[in-house]
Amino acid sequence: MKKKLILPVLFLSIGISNAQGNKPKSYELSSPEGKNKIQFQLVNNAPKYSVSHGKTVLISPSDLGFTLKNNEDLSTNFEIIKVENTSFDETWEQVWGEKKKIRNHYNQMVVQLQQKGQNKRKLEIQFRAFDDGIAFRYVYPKQNVKDSIFIMDEKTTFNLKEDGKAWWIPANRADRDEYLFKDSPVSTLDTVLTPLTIESKSGLAISFHEANLVDFASMTLVNTTGNQLKSDLVPWADGVKVRVKDTFTSSWRTIQIAEKPTDLITSYLILNLNEPNKLKSISYFKPYKYFGIWWGMHIGKYSFWEGPKQGATTKHAEEYIDFTAKEGFHHLLIEGWNKGWTPAWYENRMHMFSFTKSADNFDLEKVVEYGNKKGVALIGYHETGSNLINYLKEIDEGFALYKKLGIHSVKIGHVGSKLNMKEWHFGQFGVNYFRYVLEKAAEYDLAVLYHESIKDTGERRTFPNMVSREAARGQEYNAWSEGNPPNHLTILPFTRLLSGPMDFTPGIFDVEVKQGYNGRRVHGTAAQQLALYVTIYAPIQMMADLPENYEGKPALQFLKDVPTDWEDTKVLEGKIGEYITTVRKDRNSADWYLGSITNEKAREVKIPLSFLDKNTTYEAQIYADAEGTDETHNPSAIAISKKTVKASDVLQLKLGGAGGTAIRFKKL
Ligand code: NOJ
Ligand code: CA
Repeated sequence: MKKKLILPVLFLSIGISNAQGNKPKSYELSSPEGKNKIQFQLVNNAPKYSVSHGKTVLISPSDLGFTLKNNEDLSTNFEIIKVENTSFDETWEQVWGEKKKIRNHYNQMVVQLQQKGQNKRKLEIQFRAFDDGIAFRYVYPKQNVKDSIFIMDEKTTFNLKEDGKAWWIPANRADRDEYLFKDSPVSTLDTVLTPLTIESKSGLAISFHEANLVDFASMTLVNTTGNQLKSDLVPWADGVKVRVKDTFTSSWRTIQIAEKPTDLITSYLILNLNEPNKLKSISYFKPYKYFGIWWGMHIGKYSFWEGPKQGATTKHAEEYIDFTAKEGFHHLLIEGWNKGWTPAWYENRMHMFSFTKSADNFDLEKVVEYGNKKGVALIGYHETGSNLINYLKEIDEGFALYKKLGIHSVKIGHVGSKLNMKEWHFGQFGVNYFRYVLEKAAEYDLAVLYHESIKDTGERRTFPNMVSREAARGQEYNAWSEGNPPNHLTILPFTRLLSGPMDFTPGIFDVEVKQGYNGRRVHGTAAQQLALYVTIYAPIQMMADLPENYEGKPALQFLKDVPTDWEDTKVLEGKIGEYITTVRKDRNSADWYLGSITNEKAREVKIPLSFLDKNTTYEAQIYADAEGTDETHNPSAIAISKKTVKASDVLQLKLGGAGGTAIRFKKL
């Protein structure tokens, strides 16, 4: 049932003395259940806010505002014109997602400010207090004069009351966001990307991020002094942070606040801060699982380019389609299908890929037709090499070709340190580019899967054709680098995955990658790979391994069964960097699924099954690390067992080092 309420409520104002002994008015906003509070006041004409959770002060008075071109200060000399408080409560449905019904319940305070000086610039700050966190954003309304705005710096600070352990990756680096997470005290951080998750000294779990990022620069965070973080907008090549005409609305600066890190994962604050679905119909996209002519290229069995090892040939495509159909799946990605690939395709230069012409030995029309006969749809693939000048010239033709062929998903890659070898992926240029392509894809009935993209700020709520993205260090690194250490997978759910779905590309069964490069492998067990389909949420999940590594393997059954669209999600236990156990209920059946993974340490866990529906009996189909299995001992061995269980039972799981367990609870 939908419930919608917009109520004006009285604001509270409290007198607090400032240094001069004056009493600036303090405006307080409390979340619906009173868990989180925001306080706002003008101190010496400068806007300040602070945040508390229960009795704990989280953010001490911190700065707000901007520096504009020519050093014009939009952070002080203000007076309050108006403060307005409202409440909102609504339950909305995700067309696809990790949870069907989401409650959006908050109190809002809008503060209208105006500068006292000559220009009389206005600035509005909107605050929202939820029980799972707080958010605020800036609205720079139309002023009396027409104006070109150049934001040179954002002055927002987050003055953390106490230090904490931050899980971070660096910002503004060549490999974008494809780095391993490190943990360090907040007080020692350099410039880092969000989501930035922190375990505070007082035991709270908090995560900084942003929501609804449109025509603005991404916010990164830099430690300026003590425990203070400051917004550091990713700049254009010329150093300007944001350039707009007349008016702007920043993304929401968000702080998710939880008593334990696992509760951050089931907070939907980022989605709630995005606009409702704007697409009339999304009937062309339903969540799915897919195979790909992909891992073969990454492990060196095939090449992306034309030649004797070419992966994308008509012959291979038909074989992969046969395999996909035989195993009962319906989607296949084929990379390297087009002209433009060379052995140096990944180097930083303006590569000229074609988005309409097929590679030699590959007949796109024929492959699509063959797929149609077998019930297998192709996923389109555009690698731009970050040459967007080339891509945007061809994008309409490329998308039109897919539309004509009945292709409804496209993976779009952006390998390269800078877009057009010039602009950061995360700056306003990148933000606008990724939004433009997303909206254009919707015109052609295409669901989008981005790689090397801007971070997710919840766009999928407004544009549910924004299906998934990489935006972190994924499985590919296990193919050709030292790889991802086992703790990577136990950090991602508490950090990167808070922003939205990830195309991690799980499902490697031959974790030792026998056909790959010497010494390169997956640093975990095959049972752990199965568990990732539950611990990582995405509406499309790859089954990344080669067909020959799946063929005849009983564990493939789990990949056939596991859904990618959920009614509900619960995180039963978890410690950042150590372990996590997640359960999800299928949206289209009464079945539940469990994924449990651990870092390099073996674990024995007792899982109370109280999440299961009461008065129901299930068959637990358990895919576990075989006895004695860990990362280096027989890592591909999966022990499959069955057990009849109900909600009152407790299940004991044994996870090998870098291992995992995946379970289907099938309603009997
Ligand atoms: C990097 C992407 O993450 C990967 O999935 C893709 O195969 C290569 N680029 C080639 O485009
Ligand atoms: Ca990548």
